[in-house]
Amino acid sequence: MPSDSALALLTDRMRLLGDDLRGDLGARILRLRPGADGWRTYAAVRARGPLVRSRRGLLFTATWTTANAVLRSDDFRAVPTMISGRDPADEGFVHPLDEAFFSLNPPRHTELRSMVTPWFSRNQLKRITEHLDEDTDTCLRTLAGRRSADLVSALAEPVPVNTVCRLLGLPHGDMPLFIRWGRTIAAVLDGPRSRVELHRMNQVYAEMTRYFRGHASAQRQAEGIVAGLAEGCPRLLSERDLIATSGMLLLAGFVTTVNLIGNALHTLLQAPGYRAEAAGDWAAVVEETLRHSSPVKYVVRRACRDTDVEGHTVAAGTPVVVLLAGANRDPSVFGRPDEFDVRRRDASRHLTFGAGIHYCLGASLARAEAQTVLRRFFERYPGATLAADATPRQSRVLHGPARLPVRLTGP
Ligand code: HEM
Repeated sequence: MPSDSALALLTDRMRLLGDDLRGDLGARILRLRPGADGWRTYAAVRARGPLVRSRRGLLFTATWTTANAVLRSDDFRAVPTMISGRDPADEGFVHPLDEAFFSLNPPRHTELRSMVTPWFSRNQLKRITEHLDEDTDTCLRTLAGRRSADLVSALAEPVPVNTVCRLLGLPHGDMPLFIRWGRTIAAVLDGPRSRVELHRMNQVYAEMTRYFRGHASAQRQAEGIVAGLAEGCPRLLSERDLIATSGMLLLAGFVTTVNLIGNALHTLLQAPGYRAEAAGDWAAVVEETLRHSSPVKYVVRRACRDTDVEGHTVAAGTPVVVLLAGANRDPSVFGRPDEFDVRRRDASRHLTFGAGIHYCLGASLARAEAQTVLRRFFERYPGATLAADATPRQSRVLHGPARLPVRLTGP
């Protein structure tokens, strides 16, 4: 006999299927197979209008001007993921995404964001990025003598994890722990698909809470963001704020960047012609990858009052799913949007890092990481080719390869 919750899940799936068959594009997006790219569905949303209503009460947009307007408007608020089976008052459990400034709104968002902004200044980033060549080369040395490898676990994952360790001031020896946390959370960002996944997710959040509580009190004299925040605790921020901000920065710092690096490597390995076209302009390759293959497919906002977006009325309380990946392929902004074109001049107009007050703090860092990895990898292995099809990450939010098998060919 199926349980009540299994029946509820089944009924909901049937309803979603029914809505999709009746032409509800929102239902079609919610039904996309995890790992499917979704470009055709996003184009269908855009073709139907700037804001498309789903029978579930959500609005969707894949139009660049509308997405940009929603993200920059004071009439919309960031919303927490609300994916947790735990009591938010539970002292032993801080939710690193829902309780961090990423999900908060002014004035608290502004206060907490301004406490970490100094670590993303040009000088601070220089201090971090000067290690990128060395970190990448350390990863490349693990490939020496091998004829094939998975570039996600060998390169795309460890470089951003190393970088975020430097930024936060965390021990590099804990990288395997962070990688396990990142993989678990990346898989459930669009909602756990089973009780087992929900349990694993909550276990990771509880481990992260314990880790940062212990680390912050032990490392007050150390360098990096966690120690810096610990100095201001409890005067400027509570212990919960400290744990949530540290956990969010750790996750935001690499579960996204691993996909940017993976997508760029994948594109260049799939079509070696692009490498010749790019002629070493790695900045252009990274910018076009960000536009063409956004590692974050969407973000959500909620209208905090009745408002008007590009002539469309949006009622207070309505959630809007901003399809960043769809906006980045809006033909009214980007010519031939489905083509990967490294010579495109306007690629940087993409919305991959969001827009407005929540604009990604790590955008410059992510760009520098991806450019270094591409440069060092193709200098060392100019003839590398795909050894088999990449395995897409099983997610509806994140877009990138989970495995990228390559044949390694040197100069
Ligand atoms: C390719 C890599 C990355 C992508 C695609 C990405 C994407 C995004 C997006 C779309 C947002 C806005 C979320 C929203 O509006 O709701 C965001 C916010 C943020 N990102 Fe990134 N990110 C990347 C790398 C990084 C890195 C390396 C860091 C830090 C080490 C970072 C830290 C943050 C933070 C702190 C926020 C919250 C900003 C706020 O709410 O004020 N990100 N990111």
